This record gives sequence, C-alpha cells and structure tokens, in this order.
Amino acid sequence: MARRLGILNSGGDCAGLNTVIASVVTTGTALGYEFIGFEKGWEGILDPVMYRSLTVESVRGIAHLGGTILRTANKGRFAGKIGHNNVSRIPDEILDMACRNLAELEIEGLIVIGGDGTLSAAMQLAERGINIIGVPKTIDNDLPSTDRTFGFSTAVQVAVDAIDRIQTTAESHERVIFVECMGRFAGWIALHAGLAGNADCILIPEIPCTTDQLITFLRKRRDQGFRSSVVVVAEGVQIAGEHSGRDTGAPELTLGGISEQLMRQVNTLAPGEFETRHVVLGHTQRGGSPNAEDRILAKKYGTAAMQAYHQGHFGNMVSLRGNEIALAPISDAGGDLKGVTRDCPEYQTAQALGIVIE
Ligand code: F6P
Repeated sequence: MARRLGILNSGGDCAGLNTVIASVVTTGTALGYEFIGFEKGWEGILDPVMYRSLTVESVRGIAHLGGTILRTANKGRFAGKIGHNNVSRIPDEILDMACRNLAELEIEGLIVIGGDGTLSAAMQLAERGINIIGVPKTIDNDLPSTDRTFGFSTAVQVAVDAIDRIQTTAESHERVIFVECMGRFAGWIALHAGLAGNADCILIPEIPCTTDQLITFLRKRRDQGFRSSVVVVAEGVQIAGEHSGRDTGAPELTLGGISEQLMRQVNTLAPGEFETRHVVLGHTQRGGSPNAEDRILAKKYGTAAMQAYHQGHFGNMVSLRGNEIALAPISDAGGDLKGVTRDCPEYQTAQALGIVIE
C-alpha cells in the first residue's frame, strides 16, 4: 500500500505555491507515496476536514500558476504565532483534533508550506510526534535560517515593473512619487525593488530616518537639477516610532499607508515645494505567476522536501544557503525575523549609490 502524506499551505499566499505542491506530488509519487492536499490552511485539518486528493494527473499544468489550488487562510484555530515574534501555544484540544484527523485519514506525515506563523504551528504538531517537513514561503524574505523564501523574487519583479512605469510619469510631471512595497517589518522587497527599479531613494524599517531628513534629501536632489524623485518605501517604515496600518482585530496591525502619510508630512513641512503622489503596490506583489527564479527555487524546495521526508529528516525545513539546498530545524522559523542589515551587499550598494538616508 502507498504511504500517504498530507500537503498543507497556510498564511498569505505568494507566487510559487502551486509549483511546490506539484513538485512534491511528482517527486513523492515516484517514491511510492500518495497525497492529500488540505484546503484553506490549517483549517482543513480540523473538523470538518477539507481536503482533496492530489495526483500526478491533478497537479499537471499548475506549476506556473499563481495562488494556490488548495486555497489558504491566515487566521484561525491553529495560530502558532500571535503578532510579531510572539509564539503562541495552540490549545491541546485543537492539536488533539488535528492528530486524530490525520490518523483517521491514515496520513503518516505532512509537508507544510508556510512562513513563520505556519511553521511555528507545524512545530507544535511535530512535538506531538507527527512527521513534518517544512517549506519556507513568504514574499517578505524575512525567515531566519534561509537566504531565500520562494515568492520573494516575483514580488520584487512586480514592484520593479511598477517602479519602471512610475519613473516615466514622475519625470514627465516633475513629481515626487512615493511607492509603497509590502514586506511586513523587513525592508527586503523595497531594497531589492528600489535598487533594480533605479529608485532615487529607498526607505526601510531597519534604517530609520526622519521626515526632515527626507525633505533635506529631496531638496538636495532638486538643487542638483533632478526634476523628479521616486521614493520606494517599505510598508513597515515608521514615522516617529509609529507604524502605519489598520487594526483589523488581529493581534498584529495590518500594515499599509505609510507612503500616503509620508507624502502628507512632506506637503505639510515643505508646503508647495514638491508636487507629490503616492502608490501602494499591495497585493499585486503576491498575485500572479511565479517568475523563473521562483519557479526554480520552488521546484528545488518541493523535490528536496520530499526527499528529506523519504530520508526521515522530520522536524526540519528545507532552506537555501548560498546556492545549496540545506535543512534547518523548523523551530528556527519561529525565531527572530531576518531583517536587512547594514553589512548586506544590497544595502551597501544602495549606500554607495547615495539612495538611502542615514
Ligand atoms: O507576509 C506577507 C504579507 O504580504 C506582508 O508583506 C503583508 O504585510 C501581509 O502579508 C498582508 O497580509 P494580508 O493579506 O492579510 O493583508
């Protein structure tokens, strides 16, 4: 009889989820496994269970598609984290329910695809003896113990395409345009997209600057004869120690709006000096097909995760170290998030180009 595995993705979606799913199923089927895909994240594993059978036939043709055929959810009964860097215990009765459902479905283990919250939850199930291999996913690229999460490269590409377009209209109208990227509390997307998109200024949460410093920077550019400025802003940037976002009742603020806030501050503190606009790229960065880099990374992760499972390396997640696929304890994913540091090559490049403010 074939060994049966569950595949589950949870948390925010990103490009490349279907690529991982297809790769796990294709690799695992050849190794003698069969698969069930749980739907709507961790909710699918709880009563009433929601799942579908995944076969080589059913995953054919999905690897290049955006979103996830399993759908997803980022809130629910199986929350492994409450807010930023704050691991929460899942109630025993919920863990019991998940274990019972896995046993009833005769599932011997799980491939879990997710970010810090999802993998923190997976860890708690692993502590109950469930065989788990993790796959690190998030556009934010902020997970520790891996150089890259899949979905990041596509998000950066989407932002670069947008910035390219913003550049021309900013120049035609001689405007300062603020472009807001996702990334949660990390500036990776803004930094990479800003560099690739020839931003005139990049603002990230890890390197705070004041609005006065920003205005000084913009005036200097204007005095040097530049007629427009494109300022790429990470959504996690703070003004006077405050994030911009909405309280949706979740433990963590839903970030967004810093570009508009900054624009308004510049208009107030330097009235009439700059004609300003702002653009929030938002979920465009999460949607659509994965680019080539993410397709390849997601395939590497999917196949490596299946092989790691087959070899019995439970409790680990696949990760990228340089150009090598490695394993790291899933528990690492629940640790401190990985932010941009001053010594990383991309930051140093931006610094040398004079497009960051310190
Ligand atoms: O963590 C991925 C991410 O896209 C962040 O960059 C962003 O802050 C958040 O998710 C948005 O979440 P939601 O889809 O719940 O609005």
